Amino acid sequence: MSGGLRVDVALGDRSYPVAVGHGVAGQLPALVPPGARRAAIVTQANIAFADRVDPRIEHRRFEIGDGEAHKTLTTVEQLCRQFSQWGLDRNDVVIGVGGGLVTDVAGFAAAVYHRGIPVVHVATTLLAMIDAAIGGKTGVNLPEGKNLVGAYWQPSAVICDLDALHTLDAREMACGNGEMAKYHFLTGEDLLALPLAERVARCVAIKGEVVAADERESTSNPRGRALLNYGHTLAHALESAGHYDMRHGEAVAVGLLYAAELACVLGRIDAGRVARHREVLGVYGLSAALPAWAESDVLIERFSRDKKAVHGTTFVLDGPDGLEVVAGIERAALDAAMSRMERS
Ligand SMILES: NC(=O)c1ccc[n+]([C@@H]2O[C@H](COP(=O)([O-])OP(=O)(O)OC[C@H]3O[C@@H](n4cnc5c(N)ncnc54)[C@H](O)[C@@H]3O)[C@@H](O)[C@H]2O)c1
Ligand SMILES: [Zn+2]
Repeated sequence: MSGGLRVDVALGDRSYPVAVGHGVAGQLPALVPPGARRAAIVTQANIAFADRVDPRIEHRRFEIGDGEAHKTLTTVEQLCRQFSQWGLDRNDVVIGVGGGLVTDVAGFAAAVYHRGIPVVHVATTLLAMIDAAIGGKTGVNLPEGKNLVGAYWQPSAVICDLDALHTLDAREMACGNGEMAKYHFLTGEDLLALPLAERVARCVAIKGEVVAADERESTSNPRGRALLNYGHTLAHALESAGHYDMRHGEAVAVGLLYAAELACVLGRIDAGRVARHREVLGVYGLSAALPAWAESDVLIERFSRDKKAVHGTTFVLDGPDGLEVVAGIERAALDAAMSRMERS
């Protein structure tokens, strides 16, 4: 195999390698499961990097639409029907080439097609490289909410070829930084001090370790996979209330500051620690202000529908011992934290 970095996600007999670096897409043929005769490449029309992806077995390209409105069961049905018409069988492989939307949809289609066929992800956005393509959560949206239907389906391998990022615009890079800021608070590391390849590999390793310890996000583990939802409760509400005009990583940035304000209202952290959140988000080039259209009541109403809610409203919050899952948060605290947020 040619250079680059390699991180392993340790899940016993379902462990897999993640290749990170410039040009690592060249490793794809070696990472395709040995029995596969055909590869269904799932991508989007505007992802030029897909032309550089060659599994060196018979393959065909299947394009899905761009934007959260296409992250649906209908898209998955269309893909599965196209796979079937082509004759893809259960020993073959799906290759998702794209951002988190493509890897979520391709992964879910692979999870359900013939009750599950192998999938390899070639992540082409920073967000997909450090988060979405790693860890085996796949799924689609319903009109009632984001990611409400899905499956755990681990990939056989993930490729994070940094060459793909050359065509990614600044807004999408900022979105990746939103998730990166999340890892920053999870471990307290200064990830920006690392060169890009090492930074991406470190994020992959952080996520991989959390996933390896708690693959299916058990609700009884307050320091398990659920911690990866830091900043996400408000983020999901913002995304769905705004009909997905806000990008996921942008919404996560706002959600991180709201979670910090909420932790402060609850006396878990002090104002200095909230200020530190604002500062880190600034260093990552992110805005932490609530968009002007967002109504506090509407957002709070949506929290209670968040699929992570266990008893009352549940948030991942910072505290004296770091991040943990906190259940049963009262409405008054949610309102108080909301009133502390800046508006753009
Ligand atoms: N499964 C998980 O664990 C997990 C984690 C985080 C996010 N997600 C999901 O990921 C999705 C967000 O992913 P995203 O931020 O990558 O968005 P995305 O997949 O929608 O991609 C953003 C845009 O960038 C384009 N694009 C992709 N690669 C490109 C490239 N190399 N050059 C130029 N343009 C390119 C896409 O076509 C799209 O227009 C959400 O649906 C979210 O729910 C899943
Ligand atoms: Zn996320």
